Order: sequence, then structure tokens, then C-alpha cells
Amino acid sequence: MSNSSGQGHADRSPADLAAEAASTIAELSGVEQHDIALTLGSGWGRAAEQIGEVVAQIPADQVPGFRSSAVVGHSGLLTSIRLADGRHALVIGARTHFYEGHGVRAVVHGVRTAAATGARIMVLTNGAGGVDPRFTPGMPVLISDHINLTAASPLEGATFVDLTDLYSPRLRMLARTIDPQLHEGVYVQFPGPHYETPAEVRYAGIIGGQIVGMSTALEAIAAREAGMEVLGLSLITNAAAGISESALSHEEVLQAGRDAEPRLAALLADIVPQLPERAER
Ligand code: HPA
Repeated sequence: MSNSSGQGHADRSPADLAAEAASTIAELSGVEQHDIALTLGSGWGRAAEQIGEVVAQIPADQVPGFRSSAVVGHSGLLTSIRLADGRHALVIGARTHFYEGHGVRAVVHGVRTAAATGARIMVLTNGAGGVDPRFTPGMPVLISDHINLTAASPLEGATFVDLTDLYSPRLRMLARTIDPQLHEGVYVQFPGPHYETPAEVRYAGIIGGQIVGMSTALEAIAAREAGMEVLGLSLITNAAAGISESALSHEEVLQAGRDAEPRLAALLADIVPQLPERAER
């Protein structure tokens, strides 16, 4: 495939590639501007159809810089959705993970493209392991902050971006008014693709984490750089390694995601239409 992220685009800046992707999305969807963007991780995929009316579904490999997802269970579609109030949401169903080895530019291309389509609010979702024993499989948790253990950044050069309140307090409050049961936790991004050892999970807890996963933090940083307001949500798919007796399996993680899908779809379908018109930063 000629348009895989990285190779073939080496001559273009990340911003130029995102602008090109955004104009392809506008052309193929007929939607000039999107207002909200969502990246749907394990368990969150069914939300797309419930948020509003599907206007267009675009295979990711038709859009510059995107690649079809390498992970079974992650769809490779960009979906344009019209909300009841006429706003448009772009659902990015093609996440490139850090562990795929295509570089951080590829990891955050979806977020940069979302910003280039006009989106001012970025909803990042994922499946994750629970470190906090209160966080049990099937439970959605709001991300209150993150710890980035990838030793990488999407920012290039001397770009000093403030990450205080990266996970928007007002959007978290909005989510909690919709579902008062929602807990909050600090998300720790490990590089993956191996799951953590029990010692690493204990370490994540000691340094202030409650959730462990392999995505989201780098994307949130890129979203902030692009001027977007971020809402982060994790589905707890499993107790993190060593928190429960049992071993971790990818199949079990996917199954927990499938089981939780209807509840998560309903939650997002309630939250998204109430997201504010403008980003507040
Ligand atoms: N660790 C890291 N990533 C994950 C996990 C986990 O336990 N579960 C789902 N994604």
C-alpha cells in the first residue's frame, strides 16, 4: 500500500499530511467540517452508529497517512456522523499503536487529521487493565491524567506544550453528570505490545497510576498541541497483571470489550451530543 504512514510521506510535514488527509475526508464524505472527533478503542466500536446518523464510512487506507489496523478487533474505517443538532463527528476506527513500530507521527496522525477537519474536541477511548482493585472488568473509567512511559513524545523540536488539565475538567464533569457512577483514574501508557509484568503493574500503582494501557497518552498530547480539548475514557477489560490470580489473554480482553459494548455505546451516545460547541483551553 502506497499511503502507509511514514514511508512514502517522508517528504511531508505532519501538519501537511494531516491537512491532506482532512481534505480527502471532506471530499469522500461531503462534510466540509467536523466538530468533534472520537477514537474508539477495544469495546467502544459500537458507539459510532448510536451517536447520530452515519453520513459516510471511508476505508482508512483511502486516506493519506492512515493504514488499516494491524490488530484483530480494531476496524479500519473513518466514519462521519451527523448529530441531531447538525454538528458532525468524525469517528476514527483506525488507530496506529506505538508498538506497531511505525513511529510516533503515525500514532498521532489520526488526532492531527481530526484537528485539521476542524474538530475542537477529541474523545479518546481505549481498553485497559485495572490497577486500582475497585476497577473491575466491564467498568468504564474517566481518565483524569496520564503518565507517559513510552519515553517518546509526538512534539518535535522545542515545542513546550502545557499539559496541566490535559483531560478537560469540565468535560469530565459533564460525563459525570450523565453517569454519576463514573470513577476517574490516572492512565499509564506502557509501550507494549507485551502486557506488563506484575512488578511493572505495582510500579504503575506506586507512581500514581490506576489504569494501564498501550495507547492514548501520546494522542492526548498531540490533541493538546493541536488546540483540542480532550475527554479520555478507558474500559477496564481485565485486572492488570498480578492484581488478580489469572493470566492475561488478548482474546479475553477482546471478549470483555464485546460484552461491554452496548453499555459503552449508550454512554457515548449520551455524552457526545452534550459536548460543548467550542473548546475551552
Ligand atoms: N495492560 C496494557 N494494556 C491493556 C491491558 C493491560 O492489562 N488490557 C487491555 N489493554
